[in-house]
Amino acid sequence: MKIAFVGKGGSGKTTLSALFIRHLAAAGLPVLAVDADINQHLGPALGLTDERAAALPSLGAHLPEIKEYLRGNNPLIRSAEEMIKTTPPGPGSRLLRIVEENPVYAACARPVALDEGSVRLMATGAFTEEDLGVACYHSKVGAVELLLNHLLDGPDEYLVTDMTAGSDSFASGLFTRFDLTFLVAEPTRKGVSVYRQYKEYAQDFDVHLRVVGNKVQGPDDLDFLRREVGEDLYACFGQSGWVRRLERGDEPPLRELEPPNREVLARLQTAADTAHGLRDPRRYSAQAVRFHLRNAESWGNAKVGTDLAGQVDPDYVLGAGQPRTAGV
Ligand SMILES: Nc1ncnc2c1ncn2[C@@H]1O[C@H](COP(=O)(O)OP(=O)(O)OP(=O)(O)O)[C@@H](O)[C@H]1O
Ligand SMILES: [Mg+2]
Repeated sequence: MKIAFVGKGGSGKTTLSALFIRHLAAAGLPVLAVDADINQHLGPALGLTDERAAALPSLGAHLPEIKEYLRGNNPLIRSAEEMIKTTPPGPGSRLLRIVEENPVYAACARPVALDEGSVRLMATGAFTEEDLGVACYHSKVGAVELLLNHLLDGPDEYLVTDMTAGSDSFASGLFTRFDLTFLVAEPTRKGVSVYRQYKEYAQDFDVHLRVVGNKVQGPDDLDFLRREVGEDLYACFGQSGWVRRLERGDEPPLRELEPPNREVLARLQTAADTAHGLRDPRRYSAQAVRFHLRNAESWGNAKVGTDLAGQVDPDYVLGAGQPRTAGV
């Protein structure tokens, strides 16, 4: 399933996504971790040295090869140059599986060994000052959107994305591409205002949203979140000495995480597993088409010089009739 962590800057998106990833990996489940935040911190949070994290290949830099691979021999997409971030898959397109080897992973994913288990990590690449607010920024996140639209993932396989919150993630259709979005909120007015903003925008797109309180210190914090978030509040992660140890440069093993916090990770997994069962492939593909047509109209057609609506096969549904295991 496809899971995103969003939230206000500093709320704990990276901390909780890294912990969730470690929790899944410790259970022996296949995980593809994706760092799509403006602040690229997921690698270090998974234990990579700064040097190794900085050396991760960037999805943005490999966009042409990614497009070439995904296009396959789809007759509706004449060239990789004509493919934009929202170009949906169709007959002949190549799809990605979580557990397989393919040229996209060879170029862009790197294995990360954890204290229990291991995962594959992909990163959009660092955002520079010039990237923010302009096309380059969106093309980096656009690579993730393309991958998600071409990913066949099953109920026992996880893609976990550390995302950015707020208007940046609404600028593309990326925020609609997940089975479940965890919004990390500190028990503060700013924390819950990001939640309200996200919820309002997400409502129109059927985004499945769950709030995870973080740095919750006692009954007052809990009451505040319950009052402000209501039934969307799904779990609360406490202020954690284990996370502080990590911050100090220790490498605490996952099994030493405070039991109530470990329990929260298990609850997140339950929510994720449930969300997968609720997925509607037809709606997912229709929404991809909707975003593509919208992008085509607003800038894609002009940029590419052709009518990109022709790339759409209206009958194509991701996951319908395609084997989830590579090579079958
Ligand atoms: N439950 C917790 N207990 C103690 N410290 C925490 C907890 N969650 C996060 N922190 C600390 O809060 C800080 C921000 O966390 P983190 O980097 O995960 O947030 P973020 O939302 O990813 O931030 P950014 O927007 O910068 O990417 C870090 O120093 C982290 O160690
Ligand atoms: Mg972060």
